[in-house]
Amino acid sequence: MKMAGLCCMSMQLLLLALAALVGISLGGSDGPRGVALPFVFDPKATCDPPCKHAGICIRNNTCFCSRGYEGETCQFANCYPKCKNGGECLRPGKCRCPSGFGGKFCHRVVCDAGCWNGGECTAVNGEAKCICPSSWTGSRCQDAICPQGCKNGGICVAPGICSCPDGWIGGACHTAVCKKPCVNGGKCVSPNTCRCRGLFTGPQCEERKKLY
Ligand SMILES: *[C@@H]1O[C@H](CO)[C@@H](O)[C@H](O)[C@H]1NC(C)=O
Repeated sequence: MKMAGLCCMSMQLLLLALAALVGISLGGSDGPRGVALPFVFDPKATCDPPCKHAGICIRNNTCFCSRGYEGETCQFANCYPKCKNGGECLRPGKCRCPSGFGGKFCHRVVCDAGCWNGGECTAVNGEAKCICPSSWTGSRCQDAICPQGCKNGGICVAPGICSCPDGWIGGACHTAVCKKPCVNGGKCVSPNTCRCRGLFTGPQCEERKKLY
């Protein structure tokens, strides 16, 4: 019995020395562990299911995990710092991040399509979103805002700037263009269309209405 005790004591020391040498560690203090200190090494121990990721079976169904792994059978890789935002630890120190997050620990918010025009990628209720400067909108801040509106088919191409179709001008494309001007107080109301006053008529209001 004395011999056996000596045997196992020295075996334990040997294993500890070995562990120190090859850098095996017991991992962090949280989460499930395959082994608790002080451990007793049983050379006849069997582990079923077997220890994974180079873990050592030190007692029946007790695995001593190599650095970077944890769990009953050392089945889980561990990542320190832990993967944030629902990231999954793929192998020691390597997180797989859910969409919307990136960086080594999934700690960074990532807007996959990017944020344009000075937009800032920010997590909103756990989702990556572009926060746009006041004059831009859209999921990527790709759409300019024209507070005046763009009328008559005009398109807002930059903050406050409308691109107007033929026949319309002005900040909001609200002014019609009559190539031949309306005369006698007539008003250009749509492209090349005059609305005449009083007794005047004709394309440019140049004629007097005939009175019968
Ligand atoms: C370990 O398991 C084996 C077989 O399952 C058994 O014979 C042995 O007694 C067990 N050892 C201990 C320390 O329980």
